Amino acid sequence: MGSRRHARLAPLSLRFISKPSNEVLQQLYLVELSAHRDPWTPDDIASTFSPNTRCIGLYLKEELIGFAIICIVYDEAELYTIGVNPKYQGLGFGRKLLAATLKECLNLGAARCFLEVRVSNAVAFHLYDSYGFTVTGTRRNYYPGSNGEPAEDAYTMACDLSPLASVATLPIEPDPAAPATSDASAAPQQ
Ligand SMILES: CC(C)(COP(=O)(O)OP(=O)(O)OC[C@H]1O[C@@H](n2cnc3c(N)ncnc32)[C@H](O)[C@@H]1OP(=O)(O)O)[C@@H](O)C(=O)NCCC(=O)NCCS
Repeated sequence: MGSRRHARLAPLSLRFISKPSNEVLQQLYLVELSAHRDPWTPDDIASTFSPNTRCIGLYLKEELIGFAIICIVYDEAELYTIGVNPKYQGLGFGRKLLAATLKECLNLGAARCFLEVRVSNAVAFHLYDSYGFTVTGTRRNYYPGSNGEPAEDAYTMACDLSPLASVATLPIEPDPAAPATSDASAAPQQ
């Protein structure tokens, strides 16, 4: 069997989500709600879509089980969010999603990537550290407390993306719902 056909049949895939329908927005929100302690609302998610952002969905067969959103400005990328439905965490899927997302940042011309992470988020921290992210600072009380929990600090982290050039990652398929000339294939606006 040819590798291309094999890739198409693989149960795990990555796809750009460029102009989410209400149904897809709801799917994104359900992942967000399940994965994050302070989830974005559907409006928050919808408002991130712009020519400078890319949303990459992680699918198990046809089920959206995770996604990441990046923003590119000139040669800098910011990881806005990444999450995997807890049912599927700890299986290596988050690593695959992050690796392909960082590679996409590189493909779009970014040299460095920046992010914030809760100081208590050991899994995410370990994952970022393994791709070369280092702590550049601490933002005190960056995450507001909720349900009686206190506010929490964030580490700001940054990484040089160039080592990713040689890393093999899952391909990101085009958004099946978008025309070929959609924003997903357009260069970010600077
Ligand atoms: C962070 C997240 C995306 C990682 O996805 P995942 O599919 O669970 O992660 P993976 O299975 O690919 O594992 C990633 C690494 O974390 C490690 N890990 C798993 N559980 C861990 C734990 N409790 N403590 C430390 N490391 C842990 C894994 O061993 C793996 O490292 P390795 O490949 O070196 O062995 C996912 O856990 C998630 O959605 N968390 C909630 C949302 C979130 O915190 N997002 C990041 C916000 S900045």
